[in-house]
This record gives sequence, structure tokens and C-alpha cells, in this order.
Amino acid sequence: MSLLNDIAKKLVADNKGILAADESLATIQKRFDKAGVENTQENRRIYRELLFTTPGVEEFISGVIMYDETIRQHAGDGRSFVQVLNDKDILPGIKVDKGKVPLAGFGSEEVTEGLDGLRERLEEYSQLGAKFTKWRAVYTIGPGLPTKGAIHANCHALARYAAFAQEAGLLPIVEPEVLMDGNHDIKQCSIVTALVLDELFEELFINRVSLEGILLKPNMVISGKNAENKSSPEEIANLTLEVFKKSVPADVPGIVFLSGGQSTTEATRNLCELNRNKKDCPWALSFSFGRALQDEVINTWRGNGDNWQKAQEVFYKTAKADAEARRGIC
Ligand code: 13P
Repeated sequence: MSLLNDIAKKLVADNKGILAADESLATIQKRFDKAGVENTQENRRIYRELLFTTPGVEEFISGVIMYDETIRQHAGDGRSFVQVLNDKDILPGIKVDKGKVPLAGFGSEEVTEGLDGLRERLEEYSQLGAKFTKWRAVYTIGPGLPTKGAIHANCHALARYAAFAQEAGLLPIVEPEVLMDGNHDIKQCSIVTALVLDELFEELFINRVSLEGILLKPNMVISGKNAENKSSPEEIANLTLEVFKKSVPADVPGIVFLSGGQSTTEATRNLCELNRNKKDCPWALSFSFGRALQDEVINTWRGNGDNWQKAQEVFYKTAKADAEARRGIC
């Protein structure tokens, strides 16, 4: 287990965090559409090369989560992306879930699938050079939602995935995401997040997952996107820390927050406030942002090679700001 703990500690090293660049084909389509970029395999390759080869970004990025297509791709100079990252001492990671499907009998609620054949896929990813993995489950807040059944089904799958990943010697990042969609207030988010985390740690225990060998990737406790009263960074930090102190065991080496639809500025500001107030937290509080790290980069690049350097500068600047927020500097 010390190998997995070493990987976890490297990923949450001081002044560093994770880039989530594991958008599925459907998700990257949405991101590219906004910037007027055609969603071709070559454009996805070029875009990921832009991110991974950004000069100096290894000062702030400890690991990158890739998608199945991406981990098999190469940079223009012929090096595999895994090699590009290794050359910068950035750990290569891979999303291993197969996305969400409707949970039978539960209306709009969804469950993440991908356990079938996972052992074999993990072995292949390990051979390709991955050092860590990610599995995402989502929960929607609404009248009567999430249900006990959906909370259980997803936490059970997360725990079984984590057990498989540890067996393969690949650190599991366990991602239970309470979505920001909706008009719920921050209190409702705190109640649901606590329910989900309590169920998750029970399932991790039952499934014999070693907590020193995981990272937790949760939502911040925050009001819904359409809430009347938007929560302030101070409220977000206080309630997030309150919930996590009660529900997350001290053995977990780090919590790497997702950005979940917060703007780049909001996510950075909230991460900073969390770190300023963390006092006696046993775990590192870092980031594993997708949109908050990338939105401005894609908007600057827009699929045009002339904007390459400018877009890399934006990525460097954003990663630096998040690395500073991780140390409570903002
Ligand atoms: P966001 O930061 O855009 O929420 O993405 C993180 C992620 O990896 C979602 O699975």
C-alpha cells in the first residue's frame, strides 16, 4: 500500500494539483462547440498537446487525468502523451468508468457503469503507463432526490472500482459529485454531500479499500447554479470543512475538489478560502479541475494555431493561481 500512498502524496504535493483532461467525446464536443472548434480526433489531439506541453506548467500540475483515446495519442514530435507527461515528472492518469446510464426503476437518477472487464482494462492502462485512475458518480439534488437507492448503487460501484484499482497498483481517485444543477441552497447541498460521503466510506470499508491509497474528488459544498441566494466563499469554506471533518476519515491523504461548473475565478477563490480556513484538517486540500482550468484556454485557442502560445500562457497563469490557492494565497 505504500506505493499507492506515495502516488497519492505526489499528486497532492504542496503547490500542485491535478488537471482533469478526461472529457469523453460527447463532453469535449460541448466544450469545443462553445469555442467554434470542430470535434475531430486530430483537433482533440492538438488541443491536449497544447495543454500537456505548456512550458513550466509542471511547477503547478502533479498529474493529468486522460481519456481512453488520449492515453493512446502522441505529440507532434512522436512522443506518446504518457512520455510527454513523464518527461515533465507529471503523473499520467486515466478515467476508467464508462459513463452514466439510467438506474433501472429510479426515474431520472443515473448510475455509473464500467465494472465489467475492469480488471483487464486496468492491466492494459497500467502497461500504457498510467499511475492513477478516476471513476465519477453523480447525484442530482431535487424533490426527494437523491434517493437512498441511487446513493447506495453509486457508492457501491465506486468502492468496487477502488478495490479493482488498488489490486492493479493504480491509485483510485474516487469521485462522488453532488451536482450544482438546480436551485437548492447551500444547506441542502451540505445535507446531501454528508449522506453521500457517509455511504461512500461505509462501502469503501466493506469492500476492503485501503484509505491511505485513495484520493477523494468531491464537490465543494455550494448553492445550486440557479439558487436565489448564492453562497459566499466564506460560507462555502465553512460548510465544506464542517461536512468533510465529520465524514472523511483522517487516513485519506488528500481531497482534490472538482470545479463542477463554477467559473475559473470562483473555483480558485473558493479553494483559496478552504485552505485559509483548514486549520486542523488531516488531509491536503487541492484541486482536480476540468472546466475551471480549461475554459479560458479553449476560448483563447479556438482551434487556431496562431493562438497556441497565448493559450498556453493562459493555462500556465490559471494553473499557477490554483496552485497558490492551494496554499491559501489569493
Ligand atoms: P470539472 O472541474 O469541470 O467539474 O471536471 C472535473 C472532472 O473530472 C469531472 O469528472
